[in-house]
Amino acid sequence: MTRLSGITPSGHVHLGNHLGALRRWATEGGPDDLYFISDLHAMTMPYRPERLRALTRENLAVLLAGGIAPETVFVQSDLAGELGALNWVLECACGYGEAARMIQFKEKGAGQDTARLGLLTYPVLMAADILLQGTTEVPVGVDQNQHVELARTLARRFNGTYGEVFAIPRAVVPRTAAAVRNLSDPARKMAKSAQQHAGVVFALDEPDVVRRKFRRAVTDDLGTVRYAPDEQPAVANLLEILGACGDVSPYAAAEAASTYSELKDAVAEAVIEQLRPVREGARELLDDPAELDRTRQKGAGRAAERARPRLDAALRLAGLR
Ligand code: TYM
Repeated sequence: MTRLSGITPSGHVHLGNHLGALRRWATEGGPDDLYFISDLHAMTMPYRPERLRALTRENLAVLLAGGIAPETVFVQSDLAGELGALNWVLECACGYGEAARMIQFKEKGAGQDTARLGLLTYPVLMAADILLQGTTEVPVGVDQNQHVELARTLARRFNGTYGEVFAIPRAVVPRTAAAVRNLSDPARKMAKSAQQHAGVVFALDEPDVVRRKFRRAVTDDLGTVRYAPDEQPAVANLLEILGACGDVSPYAAAEAASTYSELKDAVAEAVIEQLRPVREGARELLDDPAELDRTRQKGAGRAAERARPRLDAALRLAGLR
C-alpha cells in the first residue's frame, strides 16, 4: 500500500486541515508514504509570489511539527519536471467536460472568461501527483473525493488504452471531522480562502485567539447540547470538533457540556491542547530555515527517484521516447 496526500499553501493551515487530514497523516502514516505541499496548485487563483514562498515554508513546518516523518515530506514544485510531463499525458487522457464538471471549478471559475486555465486542469495535476507515485490510498477530507475519483478514472483509462502502469487509487476519508464547518457560518466549510476569518481557527493561532473565535462561534436558539446535524448544524460542528480532539464520537462529546457556553469553553481548550505541539514545533522550525531547506531537499530527491521509473514507463507506453 502506498499512501500519498497534499495540502495547498494558498493560506495558513487551519483546524479543518489538521483534523481532517494532517493529523491522520501523522498517526496513520508509514515510512513509504508521501505527503507534500502542493505549491503548484496555489497558482490557480491570483497570488503573490513572495507570499506563496512564505506559506510553502510555513505549511511545511506545520506538517513536520504535526508529527509527519521528515523522510516522507516534499514540496510539489521540486518535482515540477516529472509532474509537468505526466500532467500533459493525463490532460490528453481527460475530456474537457470531465474537468469542467468538477465542483471546485464550477464554484470558483465556471463561466468566467478570466478564470485561469490551471483552475480547470487543477484536478488533472492532482491525478498526476497521485499516479506518479503508484499511490493506492489518498487520505483526504470529503471535499477532495471527486478529485480522487477523477484520478481513478484517468488511471483506468490510461492503463486500458496504452498498457498497465498506474495503480488504482482510492480516497480514504476520516470517520469524524471529514468536513469541519466555518464557526461563523456552518453552511460553509472551514477554508483557507474564507472571507470570514473569525470563523476559521488556524493551526498557528495563539490560545487567546482560539478562545475568542470559539466564544464568538454561532450556535442556535434551541439551547440544548445534542448532536443533531440537520437541526443544529452549528452545535453539531462544535461537537464534531470536540469529539475529534478527544477521539470520541460527537454523541459522547455532547455529554461534556450542558450549556452552549460550557460547550464553547470545552472545545476551545481541547483545540488549544490539540494544536499546542503543532504551534510550538512549527515556530521552532521556522526559526531554523537552513534545516527546513535540508529536509525539503532530501524529500525532493527521494520523491523524484521513486517517481522516475513509473514516469518513464508511462511515457514509453504513450508512444514517447
Ligand atoms: P487543501 O489544501 O484544500 O486541504 C488539505 C487537506 O485538508 C482537508 N480539508 C478539510 N478536512 C476537513 N474539514 C475541512 N474544512 C477541510 N478543509 C480541507 C482536505 O480534504 C485535504 O485533505 N487539492 C488538494 C491538495 C492536493 C492533493 C493532491 C491531495 C494536491 N494534490 C493529491 C491529495 C492528493 C488541496 O487543495 O487540499
